[in-house]
Amino acid sequence: MGTALAAPGLLLLLLLLAGTAGLCRALFSLPLRVSHPAAPAGSPPAPVVLRPASGSRQQDAPGAADGLALASDPGGTLNFLAMVENLQGDSGRGYYLEMLIGTPPQALNILVDTGSSNFAVAGVPDPDVTSYFNPELSSTYRSEGIEVTVKYSQGSWTGVLGTDVITMPKGLYGSYTINIATILESENFFLPGVKWHGILGLAYDALAKPSSSVETFFDSLVKQAKIPNIFSLQMCGAGLPVSGSGTNGGSLVLGGIEPSLYSGDIWYTPIKEEWYYQVEILKLEVGGQNLQLDCREYNADKAIVDSGTTLLRLPEKVFSAVVQAIARTSLIQEFSSEFWTGTQLACWDRTEKPWSLFPKLSIYLRDENSSRSFRISILPQLYIQPILLIGDNMQCYRFGISSSTNALVIGATVMEGFYVIFDRAQRRVGFAVSPCAEVDGSPVSEIEGPFTTEDVASNCVSSVSFHEPVLWIASYALMSLCGIILLVLIVLLLIPPRCQHRYTDNDVVNDESSLVRHRWK
Ligand SMILES: *[C@@H]1O[C@H](CO)[C@@H](O)[C@H](O)[C@H]1NC(C)=O
Repeated sequence: MGTALAAPGLLLLLLLLAGTAGLCRALFSLPLRVSHPAAPAGSPPAPVVLRPASGSRQQDAPGAADGLALASDPGGTLNFLAMVENLQGDSGRGYYLEMLIGTPPQALNILVDTGSSNFAVAGVPDPDVTSYFNPELSSTYRSEGIEVTVKYSQGSWTGVLGTDVITMPKGLYGSYTINIATILESENFFLPGVKWHGILGLAYDALAKPSSSVETFFDSLVKQAKIPNIFSLQMCGAGLPVSGSGTNGGSLVLGGIEPSLYSGDIWYTPIKEEWYYQVEILKLEVGGQNLQLDCREYNADKAIVDSGTTLLRLPEKVFSAVVQAIARTSLIQEFSSEFWTGTQLACWDRTEKPWSLFPKLSIYLRDENSSRSFRISILPQLYIQPILLIGDNMQCYRFGISSSTNALVIGATVMEGFYVIFDRAQRRVGFAVSPCAEVDGSPVSEIEGPFTTEDVASNCVSSVSFHEPVLWIASYALMSLCGIILLVLIVLLLIPPRCQHRYTDNDVVNDESSLVRHRWK
């Protein structure tokens, strides 16, 4: 951002000016008035306070903050075994959970997305959804009358905020009042063939739209059901055709960890910042060979764990290094660049499995002990993905890795290898080997550690993060300041070098409009 970079220089000028101004005894008074929406720095403009109509006044359960709950409580609300296999789907079109919304209940399939924070369902018929929620048929629905738009890396929707009760046939017992956006209009959001009718955003309230004051589904659940602030996710599609029958299983365990869903140890990496599930990646290896990039490249401009993203997405620089390394290791030189960019499939005779031709891919994550790391590895069975085609003797595959301009995304391609624990209470994400990540009886994922972090920087995550509201406000304040200084300079240039007394009460600088206009990207 050029303007921001110019700021230090202009600040110096300001200091010089202040000196000059001192000589001329308080020449310029420059009231900078940032008017009301900006009031206390850090709070989003015009907050919309939305809480569920009832139940939210309950106090948190005494144990709720402790997080880890290893054993389920078969008689009570928490019965983890009842949640095993409560998901359906595939990596291509996502994993979804059945929910009953409203009174009387309307059954809908809801996509599980750890990369957003709104709960939204189709609210009107759409050619690409087989079912939708009709608020008019629900006696418990309350509209807030507030319009909301959410954009994803692919697709967007606009809807209206409201609240209603939900139950989960294979989730927690009981009904809960939650915020629901009913989608009235969407673009590239519901796609042909998807079997879900809504989205469950499980990330932090910082990402909730139109503002973080819209309590998220999981926060409502933690408060009302008094469950520990943790959930875990197992997606079982390894080695199965993407966008195939769409009936691969999976489990979303709300409130804890179900021991039958993993083997070996759980390795935890700290959550760097609570918006997405942002983690810190230290190193990448292809076939055991370190890519040797500056570790900040792996986190440019963030590394997140997102079940709502199909592929493993890599920042452009990292992506081209990975493709080069895979092409080199695989010894398959005749691959066209279209295979790597995802616009072409590679096909082999059905009797041949191409996986032995490809290397293992390892991602090193920082351990809770910051001088250690651990690595999660995916075998080619996870990233060279079979596609269901009407082919005779051929089986075709697609490349399960793509490039991104603004993030490294640990999406379904990688998550299908692991049982992933979103331990919000202890601000960490855990990975364990998932027993369903097997192809032909052999595991297709591995976790190993600990490793030393002596060979990497002590911090691979850029500290300047412009997604923070406070930083946006600060940056705009700084830019306004630059503007003022420029004005002063111009005035100084225009006025002959005499000390002129001049009060600029009329020259009120008001950057409110730019603040509001640019606040939400
Ligand atoms: C963290 O890891 C280092 C290196 O393995 C070890 O020497 C140190 O004792 C660990 N610290 C804690 C608090 O466990």
